[in-house]
Amino acid sequence: MTWATVSARGAKRWATGHPWIYRSDVESNPATPGIVPVRDARGKFLGQALCSPKSEIRLRLLERTESPIDAAWWVTQLTRCRDRRRAIDANAWRAVHAEGDGLPALIVDRYDRWLVVQLLSAALETQRALILAALQETFSPEGILLRHDVPTRKLEGLDSAVELASGDVPKQIEVREGTVRWIAAPWTGQKTGAFLDQRDNRALAGTLVPTGGTALDCFTYHGSFALHLAARAVQVTAVDSSVEALARGAENAALNQRQNIDWVAGDAFDVLPAWGKARRTFDVVVVDPPAFAKSRANIPAALRGYHEINRRAMQLVAPGGWLLSASCSFHIQRPQFMEMIANAAAGTGRRFTIHRILGAGVDHPEVVTIPETGYLKGVVLRAE
Ligand SMILES: C[S@@+](CC[C@H](N)C(=O)[O-])C[C@H]1O[C@@H](n2cnc3c(N)ncnc32)[C@H](O)[C@@H]1O
Repeated sequence: MTWATVSARGAKRWATGHPWIYRSDVESNPATPGIVPVRDARGKFLGQALCSPKSEIRLRLLERTESPIDAAWWVTQLTRCRDRRRAIDANAWRAVHAEGDGLPALIVDRYDRWLVVQLLSAALETQRALILAALQETFSPEGILLRHDVPTRKLEGLDSAVELASGDVPKQIEVREGTVRWIAAPWTGQKTGAFLDQRDNRALAGTLVPTGGTALDCFTYHGSFALHLAARAVQVTAVDSSVEALARGAENAALNQRQNIDWVAGDAFDVLPAWGKARRTFDVVVVDPPAFAKSRANIPAALRGYHEINRRAMQLVAPGGWLLSASCSFHIQRPQFMEMIANAAAGTGRRFTIHRILGAGVDHPEVVTIPETGYLKGVVLRAE
């Protein structure tokens, strides 16, 4: 058996609850990817890990005991994931949230009767057949699609492709989320076809709208916040730079028989200041931008972007109105986000109070010792 041996610092990572051990803390590891037993420099067994010889994240903890990681092991883990999500009021949710569910590098999103899967480590790829069989046994999907067109796979030396793994997966799937319906695009849509992480926050946003009020959904994608806002609002304005996403938003509005959403194509960094100048206001403003911080190096620039967009958005909130603001950047932690929000509020000269601190839904478990599992953060503010 080929072991991986880690330094004291590497062993400490696992002892403190984080599953990753970086290349610099691995003294030796097998040359080919796979699941390996791991020991410290004194030979003490520490657990079994996914080992990716080409990746900076060399080891990802999978199992603390010596139990074999076989077909039955995968079924047990996936059944646990499935059972944790029983109470969700929707037909689409994240079925496996990688490290958040103790299954590093594995993403599984469920859209009605179909699954969209991402295997994001070279070692996990060696388990592909076992994982697909276990998914079939646990979830009985009509089809499984591999959305492997993601840059992180390149860091692992893996190819990038969209591939049907089993059955058939439609190009469009109707998603029901509470009282709202929208169409996911599993083959071509962003992420695995839609943004499932904001489900609870979208429902919350809908409840903030005063009957007959107005709302702005900035960075709307295909309108999933807008649709919730439109239930009570007299008028919703939905902004996105993607004309294709907005066209799907208009289709989603039709699916929900909503005629009160105005779809605006444009750059939010231009549109919001222009509306500020024109003194437009809304009772609820939602700001859900893409991840501005793509790497650690651009955190300062990303924070400037978040600051700018939030300050502009705050200026558009009517007195007594609400701002729901989110960031999905892995590299920006909650304290930095809240500091940015405070600075943006200070820049408006207005007073805002904190109504809710937000994260993702229960299907994206956030482990307190693994900050990366809590990439989505947000806040609901009330303007005085
Ligand atoms: C995180 S997604 C929004 C998800 C959406 N709120 C939902 O719940 O489904 C970010 C969106 O911002 C759009 N976007 C990116 N840069 C933009 C910009 N400068 N102005 C307007 N929209 C932009 C992208 O096209 C994408 O649809």
